Amino acid sequence: MKTAITEMFGIQHPIIQGGMHYVGFAEMAAAVSNAGGLGIITGLTLGTPEKLASEIDKCKDMTDKPFGVNLTFLPSLTPPDYPGLVDVIIKGGVKVVETAGRNPQQVLPALKDAGIKVIHKCTSVRHSLKAQDIGCDAVSVDGFECGGHPGEDDIPNFILLPRAADELDIPFVSSGGMADGRSLVASLAMGAEGMNMGTRFIATKEAPVHENVKKAIVAASELDTRLVMRPLRNTERVMTNDAVERLLEKEKALGDDLKFEDIIAEVAGVYPKIMTEGDMDAGAWSCGMVAGLINDIPTCQELIDRTMREAEDILARMNAMQKESVPA
Ligand SMILES: Cc1cc2nc3c(=O)[nH]c(=O)nc-3n(C[C@H](O)[C@H](O)[C@H](O)COP(=O)(O)O)c2cc1C
Repeated sequence: MKTAITEMFGIQHPIIQGGMHYVGFAEMAAAVSNAGGLGIITGLTLGTPEKLASEIDKCKDMTDKPFGVNLTFLPSLTPPDYPGLVDVIIKGGVKVVETAGRNPQQVLPALKDAGIKVIHKCTSVRHSLKAQDIGCDAVSVDGFECGGHPGEDDIPNFILLPRAADELDIPFVSSGGMADGRSLVASLAMGAEGMNMGTRFIATKEAPVHENVKKAIVAASELDTRLVMRPLRNTERVMTNDAVERLLEKEKALGDDLKFEDIIAEVAGVYPKIMTEGDMDAGAWSCGMVAGLINDIPTCQELIDRTMREAEDILARMNAMQKESVPA
């Protein structure tokens, strides 16, 4: 399948693995890229330019296919060394950067000068248009279903994607709730040039996370995610667990008086405990509603091959429907 996204990123299939905190290490990115998609290392998980540089080197040892690096811009008291991270991305010869969170304008000139393609992930049409205006090459349109930060507009992909298609000139991929060939064909039907998956890629053999995380995703249904931090306008979709229910109780009790410090125990620094140690009640961790569609732990190659086979079968079936409906 050839789309504007496969051409732009030099990949075989229009499938991207979104940056994921404590998941997007070299092992994850290389497995997705080797399977013909675009794998992405999560820059802020590595944290420092030195560590990111060695993760990029490690990934290059594991794949000769293109892969990307995610740079997430979050409000922070001690901001990461973004110029340093950009520098090692450029020196490492990375061809694609996925930006997310706040406006990525500060890093665009350096990335563009180095010939790096930038895909910005956003949760609304207005932010997508802004990304287009400031010179991003593509956007990843992240619907309300998504794992992680869905923004505050709550527009699901059945509305958001066609709205993006109506407004944007640059190519975009769908993101949020994507799991299989059905997701891919539906995304293409709504104007996307490919799809981005997060949660689905965690439940794969190569994902470098504790088995408990993979099992939790397989066991979860579409009813098992919750939205936290809405009162702070930093909404995050997470898998429910004891810590999340405790957090929601605090949100209810404190109402508009809630401050970040009130929920530090449930949200700060919990990812290594969950993703690495498999302590599933340690805190809130991002997970999409798509968990309800995830029932197995394939390799990335099996997942991507199966997705493309399903997509081709659906397209052939639709094509046959159309032929059958043509009068003799
Ligand atoms: C565990 C987890 C961690 C994530 N961390 C990040 C992150 O650090 N930066 C980012 O831009 N997106 C992050 N995301 C969002 C994904 O890149 C992707 O946009 C999202 O998962 C898509 O929705 P889906 O899970 O329904 O596929 C995370 C998602 C998950 C599930």
